[in-house]
Amino acid sequence: MDLLEGELEQIQSDTGAILQHHGTKRQELIPIIQEVQEKMGYVPKPAMQLIAEALKIPEVDVYGVTTFYNQFRMNPPGKHQIKVCMGTACHMMGGHIVLDCFERRLEIKEGETTPDREFSLERVACVGCCALAPVVDVDKKIEAKVSPIRVDGILLTYDIEKQEQEKKAKLEEEQKEGEEKGGQVE
Ligand code: FES
Repeated sequence: MDLLEGELEQIQSDTGAILQHHGTKRQELIPIIQEVQEKMGYVPKPAMQLIAEALKIPEVDVYGVTTFYNQFRMNPPGKHQIKVCMGTACHMMGGHIVLDCFERRLEIKEGETTPDREFSLERVACVGCCALAPVVDVDKKIEAKVSPIRVDGILLTYDIEKQEQEKKAKLEEEQKEGEEKGGQVE
């Protein structure tokens, strides 16, 4: 995943701050990774490099631990987080089809984030409302009995929302420019 402008510097400075209050023994590895994820929402590659250097261990060891535990994310969380339930009831009611639809529409696999960071997609275990299967948690809101058409509907809602926000931002910009020009004439 490509880093955004200024992101590398931020990761380096945040990881450096975290490393400062940990020792350099190998048993610090998991607590450090946990803290990095807490701070950044995921464990970026540049952070793994810095951790490996600080603990004097191969980078592949840091990578191995990060990928081994489900609690650690390798990709940044999207602005909108989509979690498809893959518990038994949801799976039986077509949860895998729903997941497949999201993967195809967003052009990413589960566990990934879209390049524009708008959406991240995950599979999760039973979220506790099996009667509504198949269930999807979108930004902590439960979508019940989700069908492929509903997948399109959910994504369309966000598309429209994004377009409206962009339109609003453009209008505000034009208004500001207009005001600035008006001020100069006086
Ligand atoms: S299996 Fe999906 S809510 Fe229980």
